[in-house]
Amino acid sequence: MSEKDTDQGKRQFLVAATTVAGGVAAGAAAVPFVASMLPSERAKAAGAPVEVDLSTLAPGERVTVEWQGKPVWIVRRTKDMLDAIRGNDGNVADPQSKKKMQPAYATNEMRAIKDEYLVVVGICTHLGCSPVSKFAKQAEAFDPNWQGGFYCPCHGSLFDLAGRVYKNKPAPDNLVVPPHKYLSDTRIVIGEDSKGA
Ligand code: FES
Repeated sequence: MSEKDTDQGKRQFLVAATTVAGGVAAGAAAVPFVASMLPSERAKAAGAPVEVDLSTLAPGERVTVEWQGKPVWIVRRTKDMLDAIRGNDGNVADPQSKKKMQPAYATNEMRAIKDEYLVVVGICTHLGCSPVSKFAKQAEAFDPNWQGGFYCPCHGSLFDLAGRVYKNKPAPDNLVVPPHKYLSDTRIVIGEDSKGA
């Protein structure tokens, strides 16, 4: 994984599409083809679903892929991370995810089809900055009781490891869960809805 916790600032993100082994369907080899497309074809490709191989994503790590010009984060959550989410309902504004910031099939405690994988658009719901991963459960300058999650440096919004926004922060909503579905235990498509659940 080349892209970890380094992204800072508005819309600045690195795309690890080609670093997930055998990963995203549209890799570097596809670039000349894309460059030769007509504008309408390019626009269609830019909005196309993105397939990702998660087999090399280690527990506790995050990978970023680009979908419709946006960074989509996939975090492989450990048991400790899932436990931290379960204990964090009191700190977040919408613990039951009642606002529709996720598809129906991801409206559950972990905001996910599979608890192990968080899939969210990595754009702050305040003014569009890219939050920073702060996965360790430890005292932070912005929260002495930090449970792990994401910190937006622009105006201080916090999100937990389910992408749920903390109370009394500028961001109004949880991070968006994009449409997605699993092709197998470790292959996922971003941009197509799951038929299940
Ligand atoms: S853009 Fe994230 S807190 Fe303002």
